[in-house]
Amino acid sequence: MRIAIVGAGAMGSLFGGRLSRVAQVMLLDPWAEHVAAIQQGGLSIVELDGQESRFDVAATGDPKAVPEADLAIIFVKAHATRQASEWTRQFLAPDGLALTLQNGVGNAEVMAEVLGAGRVVAGVTAHGATLLGPGRIRHAGQGPTHIATRPDIEKKLAAVAAVLEQAGFEVHLSTDLDSLVWGKLIINVGINGLTAILRVPNGRLVESPAASELMAQAVAEAAAVCQARGISLPYDDPLGRVREVARATASNRSSMLQDVLRGFPTEIDVINGAIVREGERLGIATPVNRFIVKVIHAIEETYAVRL
Ligand code: PAF
Repeated sequence: MRIAIVGAGAMGSLFGGRLSRVAQVMLLDPWAEHVAAIQQGGLSIVELDGQESRFDVAATGDPKAVPEADLAIIFVKAHATRQASEWTRQFLAPDGLALTLQNGVGNAEVMAEVLGAGRVVAGVTAHGATLLGPGRIRHAGQGPTHIATRPDIEKKLAAVAAVLEQAGFEVHLSTDLDSLVWGKLIINVGINGLTAILRVPNGRLVESPAASELMAQAVAEAAAVCQARGISLPYDDPLGRVREVARATASNRSSMLQDVLRGFPTEIDVINGAIVREGERLGIATPVNRFIVKVIHAIEETYAVRL
């Protein structure tokens, strides 16, 4: 299978590196230093047990250099999804699939506008990864990857699932897209904004009583929104699940904390922001999520003058 990884940050590199052992993979990323390091010395992945492996994987910063792909996995930040879809349009085979495993809601809809809904498929993954530097990442947490299937792409998706399994990922196919996407969204609602504000790894949230209380309130608001939308979540106890993920990825710096530490725009608007917008539409109060969104915006607006 010919696979393009669009956005080879920590997560894109984790998937691309492993897949390169079982498929023909090209990483596409605009970060020139990272691409150059991978081209020169390969990609290094520090595994959960501390062992470091090197992967000889092709990488480029130029979408025109990406060969035709049967599968494009989109891992860019949400604000870059449209741009990533435009790139993908240049090399995705007419009968290829573009799979988003990004955080937040709304990515698949943007991709469908550019690539056509028939070629777009959404999923979520419980893996966590941290970018250590150009050409080097740490695998920081693992768990299943769920992909939403539908009758028109069932066969193609079975092949995608098989290649991911060969690369060492646990894959489940599901027919309930909302359950997958909102189930993952709630995890990110409880973890990402708070770790970015507090500048702590995920596990610390469940060790601090005050942080745990904020997490519980943000998750309760999100769960109320899901209930009002009639979404059946993939777990019975949302807070229990968020706490479990925070513990399973205890040493990980959430993707939003990594953005804040680098002074990059965050995905707050498609995570806690999505809860605020849906809450407004459905008449559900979401004061804690609203506050988290505002604090993250304030952090973004003051990167340049941070003491
Ligand atoms: O965005 C992230 O960092 C991840 O989705 C998660 C699961 C919160 C682990 O860090």
